[in-house]
This record gives sequence, C-alpha cells and structure tokens, in this order.
Amino acid sequence: MELNQVFEQRRAVNFFDTEKKIDEETIRRIYDIAKLAPSSFNLQPWKIILASDPEQKEKLKKCAGGQPKVTEASHVAIVLGDKKAYEKMDPILDDFIARGFFGEQMRDTLKGMAKGLYAGENERAFASRNAGLFAMSFMLAAKSLGVDTHPMDGMDNNAVREAFNVPDDYDVVMLIAIGKHDEAKALLPRAGRKPFEEVFVKETF
Ligand SMILES: Cc1cc2nc3c(=O)[nH]c(=O)nc-3n(C[C@H](O)[C@H](O)[C@H](O)COP(=O)(O)O)c2cc1C
Repeated sequence: MELNQVFEQRRAVNFFDTEKKIDEETIRRIYDIAKLAPSSFNLQPWKIILASDPEQKEKLKKCAGGQPKVTEASHVAIVLGDKKAYEKMDPILDDFIARGFFGEQMRDTLKGMAKGLYAGENERAFASRNAGLFAMSFMLAAKSLGVDTHPMDGMDNNAVREAFNVPDDYDVVMLIAIGKHDEAKALLPRAGRKPFEEVFVKETF
C-alpha cells in the first residue's frame, strides 16, 4: 500500500468485529514498523500495556467512560510515556558508542543535555510528545498491514494507572483499540480538516 493510501484509509474505527482477533505475530510486525518512529535522543520513551483478556478490557472500559470499542476490539494498547527516560539513557548511549557515533567521553555531556531539556516541568510534555509520535506510527503501520485502530484519550488517567499498576515514572498517554472493522457497521464519513491557510503561519506568529 502506498503511504498516501495508508493515511487515506486509516480511520478511528468505532466498530470492531468481535469475532476477528489479531494474532500476536501481527502485532509484533506492526511494532517492527512503528519502532522506527523518531524520538528524543532515540530514547524510545514508550511502553505499551497490551490488553486482550476480556476481564482486562472490561476493567479498561470502565476507566474509559464505558466506550464499547474497548471491549469489542481484539486488543487495546495502553500507551505510556516514560517521564524519566532521561535518567535511563545508558543502554541507548551504549548503542550509540558501540556504533561509533561518538566516544565514551560524550556520555555525561549527553546525559546532562537530556536532563536539562526534559527534567522537571518538561517531563510530561517530553513523554507525551514522544509516545504520541510512536502511537501515530503504530496506527499507520497497523493500517498498512490491514489492521484497524482507534485512538482514545477519553479516560480517567488515574483510574487506568491504578487498575493496571502503572509505575510512577510513566504517564498514561492514550489508548489504541486494535482489531478489524465490523464492516456491517458503517463509519461516519471522514470529518473535515482545516485548510493550509488556517494552519500555517508564515515566518512568525
Ligand atoms: C489523542 C486522541 C484521542 C482521542 N480520543 C477519542 C476518544 O476517547 N473517543 C473517541 O470516540 N474518539 C477519540 N479520538 C478519535 C477522534 O475523534 C478521531 O480521530 C477524529 O474525529 C478524526 O477521525 P478519523 O481519525 O477517522 O479521521 C481520539 C483521537 C486522538 C488522536
């Protein structure tokens, strides 16, 4: 599928076929594409709780305002962003160094840079922006492999945190329902998008 077709065909699918399950191998293939998403310092500060067990999905639905797609989808990904990823840089820096991108002497400099940019009041924005890019990549990769998705942030984040034992370092960024569209239930047509002129401001605000 051409990339523009992937964009055109991806929809926030409201109705999933409860009979059609997505196998883990397919989810791994989606991940293998989506993992190429860019991230700050290549930190990949995301973690996904993958819920497919009916009880877990039921629990999640309660946290998500009772949205039926949470239980109708084959799986739901709870996308988390790691607010403290800048404190866990060593494996990523080991990889950079092993690849000869720079020498060991840069390790502390880069850690200091990341801390300066992302610590404190910036932690949440850092986690959301990176995990958000991963989430979009995941949804497009899924569509390219014939799998439908639906992003959701209509949820009680604290309830999700509690129900799924989310560690303090992580922010709950969004949910992505994953499955196959129930073709018997038509989606509304695609809603309008803002024109270029409304979105772009030339040179400066
Ligand atoms: C971050 C985010 C959160 C969303 N949360 C919800 C949600 O909780 N419930 C819902 O029905 N749709 C939700 N949506 C879906 C949007 O309403 C949908 O993407 C938008 O209307 C455009 O439709 P399309 O994706 O089919 O083009 C969310 C979308 C995004 C990107």
